[in-house]
Amino acid sequence: MKKTMLTLLGMGILSMSAYGYDQTDRIKDMRTMEQAMSEIQKGILYNNQKMVLEGVKNLEKASANIEVAPKGDMDYTAVFAKKQSKNIKKYAEKIKSNISEGHKHGAAKNYTNVLTECITCHNKIRKWN
Ligand code: HEC
Repeated sequence: MKKTMLTLLGMGILSMSAYGYDQTDRIKDMRTMEQAMSEIQKGILYNNQKMVLEGVKNLEKASANIEVAPKGDMDYTAVFAKKQSKNIKKYAEKIKSNISEGHKHGAAKNYTNVLTECITCHNKIRKWN
């Protein structure tokens, strides 16, 4: 009984955090990611490793949230959003190792890979068509 209650409570908290994420939060994270991408690009061009790493950190933090798909007007599924979020984090990690090894071309390539993931999702958004 006690265990069931705890499980239910846990589930409640979990769903609250997932559904508590609304469009305002999403837009905020999108803007953070856009700024992070600019930071990464700038860092690559200015040969500033610290700037790239800061951008990657901000990108990873915000992109972890966007795996929550908009509810109601479903432009894309939660499964899709999760995949995009995972890929962004994967390429962000690659940018990190590229730049630590001084490989600017590699970093630029993975920067483009991230951008491709952004665009893939944006192409699915009905409002933007
Ligand atoms: C899984 C889907 C998804 C992914 C991936 C995604 N976006 Fe978005 N993005 C959205 C949605 C939804 C909106 C809101 C569109 C609308 O309805 O206005 C949005 C809007 C934006 C906006 C406009 C914000 C505003 O002020 O209106 C920017 C900038 C943006 N995204 C940047 C990015 C960047 C940078 C990435 C990749 C690092 C990215 N997005 C990846 C779904 C996504």
